[in-house]
Amino acid sequence: MSDVIIRGARIYGEGEPQDVLISGGEIRGIGAGLDAPEGAEVIEAAGQVLLPGFVDLHTHLREPGREDTETIESGSAAGALGGYTAVFAMANTSPVADSVVITDHVWRRGQEVGLVDVHPVGAVTVGLEGKQLAEMATMASGIGKVKMFSDDGHCVYDPLIMRRALEYSSALGVLIAQHAEEPRLTVGAVAHEGPTAARLGLAGWPRAAEESIVARDALLARDAGARVHICHASTAGTVELMKWARGQGISITAEVTPHHLLLDDSRLETYDAVNRVNPPLREQSDIAALRQGLADGVIDCVATDHAPHAEQDKCCEFSAARPGMLGLETALAIVAQTMVETGLLDWRGVARVMSERPAEIVGLSDQGRPIAVGEPANLTLVDPDREWTVRAPELASIAQNSPFDAMTFGARVTTTLLRGRVTVGDGQVRP
Ligand code: DOR
Ligand code: ZN
Repeated sequence: MSDVIIRGARIYGEGEPQDVLISGGEIRGIGAGLDAPEGAEVIEAAGQVLLPGFVDLHTHLREPGREDTETIESGSAAGALGGYTAVFAMANTSPVADSVVITDHVWRRGQEVGLVDVHPVGAVTVGLEGKQLAEMATMASGIGKVKMFSDDGHCVYDPLIMRRALEYSSALGVLIAQHAEEPRLTVGAVAHEGPTAARLGLAGWPRAAEESIVARDALLARDAGARVHICHASTAGTVELMKWARGQGISITAEVTPHHLLLDDSRLETYDAVNRVNPPLREQSDIAALRQGLADGVIDCVATDHAPHAEQDKCCEFSAARPGMLGLETALAIVAQTMVETGLLDWRGVARVMSERPAEIVGLSDQGRPIAVGEPANLTLVDPDREWTVRAPELASIAQNSPFDAMTFGARVTTTLLRGRVTVGDGQVRP
């Protein structure tokens, strides 16, 4: 691995341009006009912003089982192109990641590919069925060292099972991430319950389906003395509940997806199932509350819920389509548009919500670190003035279900380094 010198980047988008010297996987020097060691790769970064590598707490990579839509390899490439240095691969694969055999496989395969650290998420319950706790301790002590457990795609709906999971999780020092959806309130639901769904004749998914579980789990976490993380917060009410729970001293954290920061349910007018997602796209008032919540730190971080699906599962009747959308390669561009261009966050704030907080929430010690000498060189360069148009077929994912296809954004990741290795340079993956 050769040494790297990044020339003229603004660190966190602040102050004068600096050079950053990287050697042996670490940051070795920061300053103006540093000497490049012989043979070092020089990355010209004038006008660009240097951030810590992004950490995604919520990615679906579909391996094992649906390698026709995404693999650990293709998803790792998408992650690196999106500026990520670590992603958490959700457990709703086939077979389900409810045993150490699967979680260790996911970790090992990610390390073989070597583009991002792929951390396996273990299932909370056997087969994601919500009935019997999975062997969390065994998964946590495997090679993949599972740090996060989630039945995502499904809610751990039984309050007694959730209570037990929280109790175990605090004993093990791991995190439970809840897909907050009261299933009795979403039977047949495909769209946000509101005027748009009513007009289009789509069965509605009420905000209360999410909010009732957020409130319940806050109370369960309080009583168990445990931490709980809320996946893909989508409503203004969830933001209010988070404020309340934090005010009570409850250990609760939450993420928001790029798509819930940008898109509302008016996208459903065309009945194009690329816009079908769980939880559904909501209303402008929810978007405003989620953006403000993220700016204020009530919502801790951005997570993509990158969810590849095959063409036959998306290019069909809206109510028959699978929910989910691609997210890894477009996340930074959307956060820049919705949070930075609006003045809600500066680039240091982006570092917080896309790297530092997610790493802290899940307890990764080598990610989300300060950009300083002696720190691991997990880094992302963003060009804040690079206009680009998303072309879904050109994304690294095997599936193409991006609702952002043909949209133009103003910022783009150009370079990603994982422990000092350039995984993406000039916008190209380096396998
Ligand atoms: O839209 C979604 N897709 N939401 C989920 O919770 C699961 C995900 C998937 O696995 O496709
Ligand atoms: Zn989910």
